[in-house]
Order: sequence, then structure tokens, then C-alpha cells
Amino acid sequence: MRIFLDSASISEVREAASWGILSGVTTNPTLAAKEGRDFRSAVKEICSIVDGPVSAEAISLTRTEIVAEGIELAAIADNIAVKIPVGPEGLAATRVLSDRGIHVNMTLVFSVNQAILAAAAGAAFVSPFIGRLDDIGTDGLGRLADIVDALGNYDISTQVIAASIRHPMHVIEAALIGTDISTVPFEVLKKMVQHPLTDKGVAGFLSDWEALQAKMEEVRADTADV
Ligand code: G3P
Repeated sequence: MRIFLDSASISEVREAASWGILSGVTTNPTLAAKEGRDFRSAVKEICSIVDGPVSAEAISLTRTEIVAEGIELAAIADNIAVKIPVGPEGLAATRVLSDRGIHVNMTLVFSVNQAILAAAAGAAFVSPFIGRLDDIGTDGLGRLADIVDALGNYDISTQVIAASIRHPMHVIEAALIGTDISTVPFEVLKKMVQHPLTDKGVAGFLSDWEALQAKMEEVRADTADV
């Protein structure tokens, strides 16, 4: 499973990219608002850091406007994927943009039907929001599994991105389901890399190594005395 970062923060993107694990980035208007800077210049910078798709969301509501905004967003960099909320207008715009060779990430997907329609419209990516389904007492991971199964029955290129990830178990389950990609907030990514036994193991190795150096020093001193 490929890992995307769900963030519009340049410092988080730089840090995650430096780990050598990053295959893409997703942003949305809420994440952009947190950064308090010009969104398009931030996205351009992210595109220069990441060797993979960077999703930038269109905020227009009609198909004609979404297409125009999508073309503008796609002009920011070669690796832009235009994020478009699912719906009749978004699907119509997705068909036009994907026919022009522009990658679309269909977002705010909560059902298998929405995912099927996104794939039919030519979306390169479909993003089920698992955390928000959990929030309303629905089985987000179950819905994700159904979407992965349904699209996997056909020879289509649409890739599934597990989105709205809230904790490391979401990532593990998404991988076990066989999801193509998980887009992970930086706080979750940091939790994924940590394990107390790793910290304990490193501390143990270091103290044993230091003890060995002290012992070797003693042996050297004894030999010099002889
Ligand atoms: O990728 C979608 C994600 O940004 C939404 O996450 O936590 O706002 O549901 P959340």
C-alpha cells in the first residue's frame, strides 16, 4: 500500500518526504485554511517536494466552473490531481477533465454506489472517508472493504485512497483490505513509526555498546601497564 500525507503543511510534507516513504499528498480547503497562506503557492511548493500526485480541491459547484477551476489547478504542476466532491456536477466535470488527461481524485465518497460512479466517470482516484463514517456510527472500514472489492472485480484503473484516517489501526486495516493508498495525517504517521520496544531496544544496544567501550578501555590500560 502506498502512503500519501493528508496535509497542506510544507514542513510536514518535507519531513514525511525525508523519510523516503511518501508517494503523494492530499489537501483540502480545511487543511489549506489551517496554513493561512496562499493555497496555490503552497500547493506548487508541495508539488516540487513530492514525487507523486498532489491533490488540490476545486471549490466550484457547477460542472462548467469545476472544469475551468480544474484546468487552472492542473496547470500548477504536472503532478496535480484535481480533487472534486462526488455528485452529478462533480461527475460530469470528472468526465471532461479525465478525457483531457487530467487526474481527478473524487472526494467525500461515503458509499459503494458513489465509488462506482466515480470510477465510471474516469476518476484516477476515489477517496472514501472512513473516519467520518465511524463518526456517525457507521462501519467506515467495512464500507472501504466493499469499495475495494467492488472496483477490484473489474479491469479499471481507478485507485482507492483510504481517507479521513484518524489512527494507526485505520492504516493497518486499510492495508489488510488491500487498499491501494492510505492518506495519513502527520500525527498518525508519527504514531505509525513508533514502538516502545524499538526505543527500549535502541537504549539497550547503546548502553551495552558503551559498556563494551569502557571494558576495552580498561583492557588497553592494563596492557599498557604491563
Ligand atoms: O483526506 C480527507 C481528510 O482530509 C478528511 O479527514 O479527519 O477531516 O475527516 P477528516
